[in-house]
Amino acid sequence: MILRTLDDTHAYGAKLANVLRAGDLVVLSGPLGAGKTALVQGIGAGLGVRGPVVSPTFVIARVHRGGRLPLVHVDAYRLGSFAEVDDLDLDVDLADSVLVVEWGTGLVEQLAEARLEIAIERATDSDERTVTLHPYGGDWANRVVPLS
Ligand SMILES: Nc1ncnc2c1ncn2[C@@H]1O[C@H](COP(=O)(O)OP(=O)(O)OP(=O)(O)O)[C@@H](O)[C@H]1O
Ligand SMILES: [Mg+2]
Repeated sequence: MILRTLDDTHAYGAKLANVLRAGDLVVLSGPLGAGKTALVQGIGAGLGVRGPVVSPTFVIARVHRGGRLPLVHVDAYRLGSFAEVDDLDLDVDLADSVLVVEWGTGLVEQLAEARLEIAIERATDSDERTVTLHPYGGDWANRVVPLS
């Protein structure tokens, strides 16, 4: 999937929100400035959560309520191990929420039996972003069909 502008990325996130269910784990990868947080902003808008979704880099995790499902947004950039993720002591039941983790590859997979990994690549000469979906387990392979 090619996302040419920031608006495209927001819109794609909102479309992704439509297929999300309680207990879902979504892992976002891609370099600094790829658009991971931008995608989460779209997911938040699609879920209808309250409050702006901003980069959680300095707080590690934020819970956004008020939408169809609670959205838990984690930036694992500064976390070195699963133990540190587990220690965040999120004030929310993940089974009832959607958990979206930036920089979570290799750290958070054990939080759920299934997950959707989303890789975002950025072009060097334009704003274009390329999104690739990697469904692992559960029924993710079927659920991503409307998103490709
Ligand atoms: N097509 C696009 N999709 C997403 N963001 C875009 C696009 N074109 C330009 N941008 C810009 O790229 C930046 C993406 O920043 P964002 O914080 O979402 O990246 P990130 O992957 O979360 O970075 P970090 O690893 O630092 O958390 C924003 O400044 C946004 O305006
Ligand atoms: Mg970010």
